[in-house]
Amino acid sequence: MTERVTVHADTPYDVVIGRDLYGWLPAMVGKATRVLIVVPAVLTHYGTAVREVLTGAGYETYVAEVPDAEAQKTVHVAEFCWSVLGQCGFTRTDAVVAVGGGATTDLGGWVAATWLRGIRVVHVATTVLGMVDAAVGGKTGINTSLGKNLVGSFHTPAGVICDTSMLDTLSERDYVAGLAEVIKTGFIADTRILELIEEALAESDPGVASDAVPLSCDDAPAEGLPVSARLNPVLPELIQRSVAVKAAVVSEDFTEQGSREFLNYGHTLGHAIEHHEDFQWRHGEAVAVGMVFAAELAQVAGMLDASVVARTRALCSAVGLPTTYDGAWEDLQDAMQRDKKTRGHMLRFIVLTAAGEPTRLEGPSEDMLREAFARIAA
Ligand code: GLY
Repeated sequence: MTERVTVHADTPYDVVIGRDLYGWLPAMVGKATRVLIVVPAVLTHYGTAVREVLTGAGYETYVAEVPDAEAQKTVHVAEFCWSVLGQCGFTRTDAVVAVGGGATTDLGGWVAATWLRGIRVVHVATTVLGMVDAAVGGKTGINTSLGKNLVGSFHTPAGVICDTSMLDTLSERDYVAGLAEVIKTGFIADTRILELIEEALAESDPGVASDAVPLSCDDAPAEGLPVSARLNPVLPELIQRSVAVKAAVVSEDFTEQGSREFLNYGHTLGHAIEHHEDFQWRHGEAVAVGMVFAAELAQVAGMLDASVVARTRALCSAVGLPTTYDGAWEDLQDAMQRDKKTRGHMLRFIVLTAAGEPTRLEGPSEDMLREAFARIAA
């Protein structure tokens, strides 16, 4: 079954979720003459499939193959894409189709946002993370040597395709990393997401009785069946619920003046870890540690019950996400100062007062920060 969620941004657009959705591409690309498909070289097979559909629909198609993961989010790769657009004569009515995970939709979206001050972009998300977060909300950007996503813009896509058949071949590491954004959505807005994961893990683990939820802090992925196989029965619902939350938040606050900030739960420390680890960690892995830190911080600040901290740790560990970090606090502070939520010199964190109840914590003391960080030390 195909689900369609409309995002009411400055121009409304649809996110379609289901299987075998290439047929939606021509309607989303619309009246363009030329289409540039931006795709990492490792996903050429998807780029080729998208190209065949668009060529068959009468578009002049071009392909820009880019590096994988965060390595593509540089000004040099963007410049390469601009040069292809220029050499192929792309005009204001032409389009970009970004095919890939969150890094590709960030890059492809930003290339489209900046070419001739903005041309149409369609995102084809190929990872869990792209489907539930990066491709959906119109944020685009690249990294600089000083930090993640420091250069970018809001650029409304013309449509987003979340074809879950593409997840059949996703690596286990990427599948699990994407779950961090799903869990994040559960904690900030839709706690049914948390229950669905807890129930599916309990039901698929022969060693755990189904009434054993909530998971314990000691839970780690059970030996045997991979987490992806154990969660696949509920994955379509997890994706639909996450997209629905994201679409509602983005419809209310496209340019992040208010409630959209809540989508950054776990990201302040998470982005700093990614940067400090030279992007060798997956985004979701760093966000998982960031969520445990934010939960600990809220508890240290007297805002959050310890049971929610334990649930955060238990869920992340049970799906195989990291919950500890062995770096030094000082190494992460500079990167956090450059976080987009920081105001002046005051660090701001998204924290919870309960599962499903996010709020902001402004200017926590150094003692509180260090105490929370000590609690996530490896
Ligand atoms: N990933 C957070 C947002 O889209 O606002």
